[in-house]
Amino acid sequence: MKPESRHAVCPGSFDPVTYGHLDIIRRTSQLYDEVWVAVFHNASKNAVFTVEERVELLRETTADMPNVRVASFRGLVVDFCEERGVGVIVKGVRAVSDFDYELQMAQMNYGLRGIETVMMPTNPLYSFLSSSMVKDAAKWGGDISPHVPDIVQRRLVERMRQE
Ligand code: PNS
Repeated sequence: MKPESRHAVCPGSFDPVTYGHLDIIRRTSQLYDEVWVAVFHNASKNAVFTVEERVELLRETTADMPNVRVASFRGLVVDFCEERGVGVIVKGVRAVSDFDYELQMAQMNYGLRGIETVMMPTNPLYSFLSSSMVKDAAKWGGDISPHVPDIVQRRLVERMRQE
């Protein structure tokens, strides 16, 4: 099947979604007709939210983007792309330190199925933002309101209280 070049996938762990992710998803939705946000079932990471919770938070925080859909996947991101006829993966790159790993994944994904990767420079406002840092700050009572939407903040604070 020839991939639909006007469709893109934004894959990630999204544990949880941050303003940095949402910026990349929004900008991708302005470049492509349809965008799939693909939440990876990541066994190796110590996740705070289940995949279902992460999908739900993404659906709520992308509700104002009509051409964005959210789903989860196991296995290879290129299989997710192929199943939906998508030929492009869009990844945010915050700094040079992200680049090596992203380049390796892009080359692997192209080699596996001919799926292209577009690397989108992160908005400098979010250069130092990561889900891990947001979780760490929330754990120790730090203010995470500049980094995540309200609903994510509330869920994260609740979850940290339970732990
Ligand atoms: O938000 P993250 O954790 O940086 O996202 C990484 C993710 C999920 C995009 C990446 O690990 C991924 O695509 N995993 C699925 C397995 C895969 O296809 N790996 C790349 C080729 S080996």
